[in-house]
Amino acid sequence: MTDKAQFDAMFSGVIGQDYELLNLICPLATQMSRLVGVAASDYAAQTPGNLNVVELGGGTGITTLALLTASDKFTILSIDNEPVMQDQAKKHLHNWAAQGKLAFCGDDALTALTNIATGSVDIVASAYTLHNFLDTYREQVIQQIFRILKPGGQFINGDRYGLDDVSQHTLTIQHEVCGYFKVLTQLNKLDVLEHWIVHLFSDESENHVMRETVALNQLRDAGFSNITLTNRLEVNALVTVTKPGL
Ligand SMILES: C[S@@+](CC[C@H](N)C(=O)[O-])C[C@H]1O[C@@H](n2cnc3c(N)ncnc32)[C@H](O)[C@@H]1O
Repeated sequence: MTDKAQFDAMFSGVIGQDYELLNLICPLATQMSRLVGVAASDYAAQTPGNLNVVELGGGTGITTLALLTASDKFTILSIDNEPVMQDQAKKHLHNWAAQGKLAFCGDDALTALTNIATGSVDIVASAYTLHNFLDTYREQVIQQIFRILKPGGQFINGDRYGLDDVSQHTLTIQHEVCGYFKVLTQLNKLDVLEHWIVHLFSDESENHVMRETVALNQLRDAGFSNITLTNRLEVNALVTVTKPGL
């Protein structure tokens, strides 16, 4: 079995149909959750002791599982303000919650972050959540992430980072839409197709889209250093940044 096949088997074993469907519709999204896990694991390997991790937008638990399996040093607080999503994560990941490795918070990201002590968190991790935020809300969230991280702590985000070249970006989105039609009409899941296309209009709207250079500058303005964008896969990319001061 390939690494990917092993990951897919393990994730669909825990998460079930939600994982399998996302993997069919948007394989780059499941891949990005794994990359968030790999980045968190790299950070854990070079940092002694147990580590506090805050996850934003845990959804059904795919990124959470990637984090839980990345290092046994992690204690994770997974935040999501949509109970239908979070309840599924609670069901899928109850073993880790029972062991005290995972807790859940149902507040919205900004409220939850505001309630966390300054300089108390080693890693803030997220996948496909920040692009859903209005740009003004996202700016406040990023400031709060910076505040709660310990000096040397890392923010790891796998997400939709729009291409600076707007024409190229449009071509990439058109290709993405073709993929949704191909997969979901074959599966006869027209209700899911409608949902994804409607949601894409929100993702692509001017007050949501995270254009690469603007997004990275926003992180720099908040005080972060070591700003890197890697693993660009169409409109998806992994961003890691560090709170300076160690
Ligand atoms: C696309 S899902 C991503 C789930 C998971 N990280 C993954 O990659 O599969 C985004 C999640 O963010 C949550 N979310 C959106 N806005 C939020 C907010 N303001 N505060 C907390 N969670 C939010 C949604 O409820 C949803 O579960």
